[in-house]
Amino acid sequence: MKTESDRSEGDINLGDRRKAWQARHLDAATRELLDEDARWFLHQSMSTPCLNALDGAQGAWLTDTAGRRILDFHGNSLHQIGYGHPAVLAAMRATLETLPFSPRRYTNRPAVDLARRLCQAAPMAGARLLFAPGGTAAIGMALKLARLATGRFKTISMWDAFHGASLDAISVGGEAVFRRGIGPLLPGSEHVPPCDPGQCVFGCAGSCALRCVDYIDYCLRKEGDVAAVIVETVRCTDVQVPPTDYYRRLRQICDRHGALLILDEIPIALGRTGHLFAVERYGIEPDMVVIGKGLGGGTMPLAALIAREGLNVGQQISLGHYTHEKNPLACAAGLAVLDVIDQEGLLERSRRLGLEAVQRLRSLLAGMPAVKEIRGAGLLIGIELHNADLAEAVLYRCLSAGLSFKVGQGQVLVLAPPLNVDESDLWWALEQIHQALHDESRGPARTDDHEQGQAENLHQHRS
Ligand SMILES: Cc1ncc(COP(=O)(O)O)c(C=O)c1O
Repeated sequence: MKTESDRSEGDINLGDRRKAWQARHLDAATRELLDEDARWFLHQSMSTPCLNALDGAQGAWLTDTAGRRILDFHGNSLHQIGYGHPAVLAAMRATLETLPFSPRRYTNRPAVDLARRLCQAAPMAGARLLFAPGGTAAIGMALKLARLATGRFKTISMWDAFHGASLDAISVGGEAVFRRGIGPLLPGSEHVPPCDPGQCVFGCAGSCALRCVDYIDYCLRKEGDVAAVIVETVRCTDVQVPPTDYYRRLRQICDRHGALLILDEIPIALGRTGHLFAVERYGIEPDMVVIGKGLGGGTMPLAALIAREGLNVGQQISLGHYTHEKNPLACAAGLAVLDVIDQEGLLERSRRLGLEAVQRLRSLLAGMPAVKEIRGAGLLIGIELHNADLAEAVLYRCLSAGLSFKVGQGQVLVLAPPLNVDESDLWWALEQIHQALHDESRGPARTDDHEQGQAENLHQHRS
C-alpha cells in the first residue's frame, strides 16, 4: 500500500496517475518494451516498472521510443553539462582506443590528472581522494575513513536525507522508503532534524534561528564519542539551502566535540548551485566532501571521496578496493567535465540563470495559493506546493507537454536543468509549469483541453 513516506522521493511507480498517463501516451511498441522490462528486472520503488522508454539523450533533451522529445530537468542530477557533450565523447573515444581499462596495481594519466585537479579545487587544504564507481560507494568509504581517523563509530545525520541505497548509506539516510522493512541498520547511526525552516520542529517558523544546530551540539555533547556528522550541503530532493551561519556553527561544534564533518555533494557539486563545490557559498572547510553523478560526464559511473590533509590514515586496510577505482574512461570523462565547466563559464551561468529563473517564477506564480515557496541555489530550483497530490498532477501535465522534472519530499517540484541549457528552453519550461499549475489548481476536469494546448505549445516551441 502506498503511504506518505513513499512519496518522499516523488514520482513513485505505483500511482493511478501514472497508469492513466501511460494509457493516453504510450504506443504498442513502447508498451511491449516496458512489459519486457517489467518481466526481467526485479521490481523496486521509483524504477521498474518504468514510466516510458528512451531511444535518445542529447544536450537537455531525451527522445522516447515513440519519437517524442522531452526536456529533461531531472536527469538523475547528473547532466550538469547535458547528455552526450562532444568534449566528453571525444575524450572517451580517445581513451577507449588506447586504454579502455587500468587493472589494479597500475595507475594511468587520466586518473592522476583528475585526482590532482579535483584536490586542487577542493575547499580544503592538502586534499587527497579516492574514486569509486558510484556515490553510495564513496559514502561508504567516507564512513569507514571517519571510523579509522577518530577511533569512534557513531554518526549524526539528518532525517529526510539521502546518501545512497546500500545498508551503510541507508543507516545514515533518513527516508523511510529506503529503510522500512530492512531490519537492523548500522549501530550508532543517530538522526537529528535537518535545517528545514518551513517545517522546523524546533519552532523557527520560516526563518532559521539555528536551533537545529544547537540540538546537534547537544547530541554531540551527550553522546561524547561521535565520529562524524554527515549532511547534504544543500538538500537536493527539495532544495533546502541552510543559512550561512548554519555551517559556520556546525563547523565550530564538530571541532569542539572532535567529530568530523562530511558533506555529501553527490548531486550538487560541479556547478549545480553555482559553485564547483556547494560548500563554497558557506566559506567553511569540511573534513571530507563526497561528489559523484555529473563527474562521469552524464555517461560513466564515477564518484570521489575527497578528504583534507591529515586523513591519509587508511594505509593498512582497503577503504574502497573497487574494480573501477581508477577507470581511465570515467576519469577522461571527468576531466572533460571540468574543462567544459571552465570553458563554457557554467558556474557563473548557473548563478545568473538560477537567479533569473527564481525571479521569473516568483512573478509568474505570484498570488497562486497552491504555491508555498520558491527557492533556489544556482540552477537547482524548488517550487514547494501545499499539496502532494497537486504536485503529482502538475508533474504528469508537464510530462504530457514534454517536460520532465523530479518531485521531491512529496510536494516540491525540483528543477535541475543542464547548466548549459538553452535559455529559450528554460523559459519555456517555466511557462509549462505555470500553465500546469494554473490548470490543475482549477481542478482535473480540463485534462484533455489542457493537453491539447500543451501539445500545440510544445510543437510551436520546437519548430
Ligand atoms: C545526496 C545523494 N547522496 C548519495 C547518492 C547516491 O549516489 P549513487 O546513486 O551514485 O550511488 C545520491 C543519489 O541520488 C544522492 O542524491
